[in-house]
Amino acid sequence: MLEVVTVTLNPAIDQTLRIPGFAAGRVNRVAESRSDAGGKGVNVASFLADLEIKVGVTGFLGVDNIGLFETLFERKRIIDRFVRIDGSTRVGLKIVDGPTTTDVNFPGLTPAKEDLRELFNQIVWLTEPGRWFVLAGSVPAGVRDSIYTDLIERVHEQGGKTVLDTSGPPLREALAGHPDLVKPNVEELSELVGSPLRTPEEVRAAAESLLDRGVQRVVVSMGGDGAVFVDRGQALLARPPAVTVRSTVGAGDAMVAGIVYAMLQDLPLEDVARWGTASGAYAVTRVGAGIEDPAAHRKLIDEVVIERLGN
Ligand SMILES: Nc1ncnc2c1ncn2[C@@H]1O[C@H](COP(=O)(O)OP(=O)(O)OP(=O)(O)O)[C@@H](O)[C@H]1O
Ligand SMILES: [Mg+2]
Repeated sequence: MLEVVTVTLNPAIDQTLRIPGFAAGRVNRVAESRSDAGGKGVNVASFLADLEIKVGVTGFLGVDNIGLFETLFERKRIIDRFVRIDGSTRVGLKIVDGPTTTDVNFPGLTPAKEDLRELFNQIVWLTEPGRWFVLAGSVPAGVRDSIYTDLIERVHEQGGKTVLDTSGPPLREALAGHPDLVKPNVEELSELVGSPLRTPEEVRAAAESLLDRGVQRVVVSMGGDGAVFVDRGQALLARPPAVTVRSTVGAGDAMVAGIVYAMLQDLPLEDVARWGTASGAYAVTRVGAGIEDPAAHRKLIDEVVIERLGN
């Protein structure tokens, strides 16, 4: 039985190029290159599959370069319910030069009306009471910003639960659907509330303003500074241990996977904070999504430091 479904409307193949001394306006030579099936929901699914969770994936994939995705899904026994659309899934370039990464993102494919209809049908078929849906990433060009609101409502009508990780107008719009949990990073939340958030207390107050708008739990990630977790009962600040950073790509996706994993076990907020924060910290120590070293991941969970905020 599926436990989690992730929805990625605008996936990408991540092409990571290592270019020492990368500079704009010059000839740059690639020292190393790799391509990974990516996109936020795909990364979350990949991480959850490594934790032995039964996970399904949907959204839109271009038929012309689908091989990398199908190979990943087979290898990790991920149930593939992606809607196939004409054309190629976009490639996102990540140019890595030491600790600095430069992203070059293409807009991606635009699904047609029938494709959208097929996606909604998939969501209806896949929803079961208590099943978690993770809706993550940007909305493709040509699709209305309110699509997440409609997807969330459809899932909730049939008793499913939702985690949302997006930004900008789609995040603002989606709040009307009352997702069960949202995970903006601090920049995304500060854009949403329209003021800079400088301290954990300011982050907490902004996060609590989303509880007033019908969200059950809010997690605000702050990179190496950890994250603030709030629900109606409590507010926690979780700090990751110091780790050696190899690539910050996908830290947020790993965090979402850790949060969902802990919520599937019905763990209290403090443990949700440990799992989420440690999973993000684990991800930055590696290139690529998923868990290659379960023991290293487990060890980080105990090393997260939890502090209570306010009251
Ligand atoms: N440098 C770091 N050291 C330790 N842990 C980190 C570091 N960067 C990120 N993390 C962990 O990962 C979590 C998520 O990171 P971050 O806030 O950067 O997410 P994000 O901005 O949503 O990332 P993404 O680009 O994947 O969307 C943090 O809350 C933290 O637990
Ligand atoms: Mg993020």
